[in-house]
Amino acid sequence: MIYLDYNATTPVLPEVFEAMIPYLTSEWGNPSSTYKFGSKLKTVIETARAQVAELIGARSMEIIFTSCATESNNTAINAALKANPRKRHIVTSAVEHSSVLNYCKALEKEDYRVTYLPVDSEGLLNLADLENAITEETAVVSLIWANNETGVLFPVKEIGEICRSHGVLFHCDAVQAVGKVEIEVQNVQVDYLSLTGHYSVYEHFTYLAASPSHPVTFRSHQFKGVGFPKSLSLKDRETFDVVKTDRAGLEVRVTGLERTLVDVLNRPDLTGSWEEIWRSLESVEFFDLEKVTAYVDLLGNATTAAKVGFFLEQHRDSLMVDEAHLKTFRDRRPRRPHYLERSRRKAGRFVAAWNLVVPEEVYGRSWEELR
Ligand SMILES: Cc1ncc(COP(=O)(O)O)c(C=O)c1O
Repeated sequence: MIYLDYNATTPVLPEVFEAMIPYLTSEWGNPSSTYKFGSKLKTVIETARAQVAELIGARSMEIIFTSCATESNNTAINAALKANPRKRHIVTSAVEHSSVLNYCKALEKEDYRVTYLPVDSEGLLNLADLENAITEETAVVSLIWANNETGVLFPVKEIGEICRSHGVLFHCDAVQAVGKVEIEVQNVQVDYLSLTGHYSVYEHFTYLAASPSHPVTFRSHQFKGVGFPKSLSLKDRETFDVVKTDRAGLEVRVTGLERTLVDVLNRPDLTGSWEEIWRSLESVEFFDLEKVTAYVDLLGNATTAAKVGFFLEQHRDSLMVDEAHLKTFRDRRPRRPHYLERSRRKAGRFVAAWNLVVPEEVYGRSWEELR
């Protein structure tokens, strides 16, 4: 079978399936329990909540999990109506998902008035119609971000501004948008946003670019080019440990393992969480330490030298790191204490040997316990 209806739903990504296995098999307790079998799962849920929040630039406390997007849409509209009990008018469009349209029809039977805005032959909304539809009686505007049948994107930013200027709450069904278009809730004046996990195939690539470039979104993939470290450009050594490889007839240039080790520790803000960094690096069985040292010297950053030294010392047995190599990095460490990650200064353990403040979970490699 060739399945062409990814707007109806999508298959679960293998990594999602993998990540869920423990909670569908052995770790099935109730997180609200007072005993550990259940309560330890609270951390897992809070981690998931923080990840969803990060995806859309929200705060964790703003994320409420529901059983499906239909429930999210209904709950949001209902909450907006409850917040304005005297106002009994709703504005939506004729092309909303049935979960919104059916709920609005049901509300009409409860003496709410609903305006269904039309769209033109291209599926677009006329913002003047929206302005005209809003009255003193309007409690909420509910409009879709990406249409589930036509793919048309409504101008959410402008809609939010109109709603705000009239003091009306705005609910947006962003179910088909999340993971496909960038959503930063700080940039859109939305009061309620419905999301779901069953459509999202979201990938984010960060790559080294010779000249600065704006992020580009292609299908569900976002590409972000970042410049080379300045110290490399100054020495004309951008291509240090760059390997050329053939991918389906296309020449692809990637950084070698040694440079990658140093690069991810040098710019953890571009790389991912510490768990991702540590686990990925731990999957490498061998590093050429001479090359690592040469690259650290090219970057000329004392904190990076200490981070690399700390990682190598922590893995000295598996990576067969000898004292002479550790000394090389120790000689290059910073004179005063530095954070493992400057941009996300996080209290942790002070490791005097490297003059580094290291988050507790990195020090103890304790993320396993969170699973
Ligand atoms: C735009 C939109 N909103 C809401 C829903 C409802 O989603 P769920 O099936 O999770 O209730 C869908 C699902 O098809 C949708 O495409």
